[in-house]
Amino acid sequence: MNEDKIKKLNSMRELTFLGGGEKRIQQQHEKGKMTARERLEKLLDQNSFEEFDMFVTHRSDDPTLAGNKIPSDGVVTGYGTIDGRLVFVFSHDFTVFGGSLSETFAEKIIKVMDMAAKVGAPLIGLNDSGGARIQEGIESLAGYAEIFYRNVAYSGVVPQISVIMGPCAGGAVYSPAITDFVIMVDKKSYMFVTGPKVVKTVTSEEVDEEVLGGARVHSTKSGVAHFVTDDEEEALMTVRKLLGFMPQNNMEDPNILPCSDPVDRIEPFLNEIIPDNPNKPYDMKSVIENVLDSGEFIEIHQNYAPNIIVGFGRLNGYSVGLVANQPKYLAGVLDIEASIKAARFVRFCDSFNIPIITFVDVPGFMPGTKQEHGGIIKHGAKLLFAFAEATVPKLTVITRKAFGGAYDVMSSKHLKADLNYAWPTAMIAVMGPRGAVEILHKKEIKNSENPEETAKKYEDEYTEKFANPYLAASRGYVDDVIEPATTRFRLIKGLEMLTTKRDSLPPKKHGNIPL
Ligand code: HXC
Repeated sequence: MNEDKIKKLNSMRELTFLGGGEKRIQQQHEKGKMTARERLEKLLDQNSFEEFDMFVTHRSDDPTLAGNKIPSDGVVTGYGTIDGRLVFVFSHDFTVFGGSLSETFAEKIIKVMDMAAKVGAPLIGLNDSGGARIQEGIESLAGYAEIFYRNVAYSGVVPQISVIMGPCAGGAVYSPAITDFVIMVDKKSYMFVTGPKVVKTVTSEEVDEEVLGGARVHSTKSGVAHFVTDDEEEALMTVRKLLGFMPQNNMEDPNILPCSDPVDRIEPFLNEIIPDNPNKPYDMKSVIENVLDSGEFIEIHQNYAPNIIVGFGRLNGYSVGLVANQPKYLAGVLDIEASIKAARFVRFCDSFNIPIITFVDVPGFMPGTKQEHGGIIKHGAKLLFAFAEATVPKLTVITRKAFGGAYDVMSSKHLKADLNYAWPTAMIAVMGPRGAVEILHKKEIKNSENPEETAKKYEDEYTEKFANPYLAASRGYVDDVIEPATTRFRLIKGLEMLTTKRDSLPPKKHGNIPL
């Protein structure tokens, strides 16, 4: 071949690698941000990236754009591997027209989305964009909608992860919002439907980008972000870690890794963890960590609704999703945020064949007008719905309280959990002893000489009679009452027994989860 042709190809490639040019790359670095390609290099296994469409340019005839065609048009797309497993990627290039989305930019993203679904591999989007390319107007909006459509169509087909590494505003936020996990870089990223200027015009509220839609806000208040990281590198490493727990698509099972942690490891610590006083908290996270392989637990939504814990870990090398009430916060009560957080996670696990392990210590649903008016009925029902429709192996351990409707909701036998264990400290009842005696023995307590002592006497009676695991065990609602120290071993045996579980719901188009 004529050498000139190779030279031309190489020089065209080199031009593409420069994106919006040296100056804009420098500006990107000065902001403490990597370029689109640098991010992909960090994210993917070394030399694994194969790029598509690097010669694509925009088609706009707008005078401000027409003479300025930059190859790649502001987004780098293609495929590569993470720990040797195929993934598809797109990475916004802020150095090209602020990473704004044109018609051709959208077509590039659509191509990798369709390819990811066709071959069954996860899709990862690195977002850093000024939104719709203003000059392209409606074509740009159409491009977004085509992307949203695919986010929805492929939800539950391949895992989709979004990393927000810069601006993400306007309707553009809805693509990440549909994906399974959103990771935001602290102080470098923000997401909002309308920016500070519009907010001021419409509501007169003065607010900056960080307070309106920064990583902290979305990881603590709105729940939009599942992770907040200190820097871009940590965000990319989080993607790599998360993917390790997932299968490539909904037709596969997650990888089973070799496990060096003994299956029959006994943890005497767990026999002591439940305080004698049922109103005293303890840290459910230490229960989870003691049970999992090598104590390794990836917590999701760590700072949002901390009264419930969700995340991934492994049991004898099998990937599992964990859901657990956290008595350390609000006594582990189920409120609106906790219900929504856990429901979404349960549905993710069920979509991707990840067994669910549930640890229960729940005093009930949060009472009060704030919760009732906020819709705890419909939001609590989401969690119930999610557990009930999940057909993956479901294993439940009741460590202490399992009261009222919250007992039913937290992956109870009646919602078709497969294995339900209780510790001897479990109290499975309609309500806690104090509440129950105040209803049943109101008169006797009021009329007694020493109401406190009388109440205590009735509470002890109630606890002995109702607030224990043995009534539930006598009905088969729990399969066994187990010694806490043996929890790891019992869960692994159960999980391995359930690996060939087959279950399905009645045929339907889809259910109607109470939104
Ligand atoms: C075209 C854009 C652009 C956009 C930025 N640029 N956003 N070009 N369309 N949406 C260009 C700028 O003109 C500039 O070009 C370069 O990108 C870098 O932008 P700067 O403003 O210099 O950068 P910075 O100061 O860091 O500010 C970044 C920014 C700001 C906060 C993102 O650019 C901004 O507010 N952009 C507009 C955001 C916006 O309103 N987008 C539309 C949202 S509505 P030069 O050549 O000067 O370097 C939307 C609807 C989606 O997206 C609907 C989906 C359904």
